[in-house]
Amino acid sequence: MKKPEFHVFTNLAISMDGKISTKDRAHIDPSRYDRLMMDKIRSRAHAVLIGAATLRTFRQPAVVERKRYQLMRKARRLNPHPINVVLARHVDFEPSWPYFSDPHVERVIVVPEGTSEASLKPFHTLAHVFKYKKGPDFPEQIIGYLQKLECRNLLIEGGGGVLFPWAERNLVDEWNITVVPKIIGGESAPTMVEGEGFDAAHIKHYKLRKSFRRGDEVFLRYVKARDGV
Ligand SMILES: NC(=O)c1ccc[n+]([C@@H]2O[C@H](COP(=O)([O-])OP(=O)(O)OC[C@H]3O[C@@H](n4cnc5c(N)ncnc54)[C@H](OP(=O)(O)O)[C@@H]3O)[C@@H](O)[C@H]2O)c1
Repeated sequence: MKKPEFHVFTNLAISMDGKISTKDRAHIDPSRYDRLMMDKIRSRAHAVLIGAATLRTFRQPAVVERKRYQLMRKARRLNPHPINVVLARHVDFEPSWPYFSDPHVERVIVVPEGTSEASLKPFHTLAHVFKYKKGPDFPEQIIGYLQKLECRNLLIEGGGGVLFPWAERNLVDEWNITVVPKIIGGESAPTMVEGEGFDAAHIKHYKLRKSFRRGDEVFLRYVKARDGV
C-alpha cells in the first residue's frame, strides 16, 4: 500500500470527446494559458512520469520553465526541475534526444526486470535505471524507489497507456484536466486512462475541488472521494 505522505497527481489535456491525442499520436495543441498552468502544476512536482510513447512523440524533458516557479522550488529546497521518469518496456530511445541531454535534469528509466542490458547500456551515464519486479504492485514499487530519491510526490503527465494501473490501485489522489474545445474522434486515438477498464462495481469516484474557465478551455481539479472507490 502507498504511504499516505506520498501524493500522486496528474495533468492532461483532453478534447471534448475525451481524447488526449489523435489516432496518429499528434498533439492536441492546448492554449498558451494551458502551458502556463502546466508549468504551475509541474512546479509542485518532485518527479514527473511519462509513458514511452509520449517520450517518443515529444522527446523533450518535463521542465519548469518560469524563473519564478524555479525560485519557489529553490525556497522549498527542490531542484529547478523535477526528476524525469519514463516508463518503458522497449528502450528504443536515442541518447541524443533533448530528454537525455539536459544537464539540469535528473532522469530515471523504469523498466520491468528482464529488460535487455544491451538496450539500457547507452543510458547508464544519462539516467538511473529502476527495474521493477513484474506484478500488479509495480506502481507502489516505483513510489518506493522515488521515495529513496527523496521524492514525496509524483506528477503523471500521461499518456493514456500508463494511468490505468495507478487508477485501478487507487493511487491517484488528484486529477488536473484541461478540456479543450475540439473533437478528435477515432477509436484508436488514446483517452486519459486506457487499459482494460473497470466494470460498474469498480468505477473510481472523485470530487470536483476546483474549476474555472479561460477562453474556451475549462480547467478542472478532481480529488479522491471516499478513498477513490
Ligand atoms: N493531452 C495530453 O495532455 C497528453 C499528455 C501526454 C501524452 N499525450 C499524447 O499521448 C500519446 C501517447 O499516449 P499513449 O497512451 O499512446 O502512450 P503512453 O502512455 O505515453 O506510453 C505507453 C507506453 O508506456 C510503456 N508502459 C506502459 N505501462 C508500462 C509498464 N507497466 N511497464 C513498462 N512500460 C510500460 C509502454 O512502452 P513500450 O512501448 O516501450 O512498451 C507503452 O507502450 C502521445 O502521442 C501524446 O501526444 C497527450
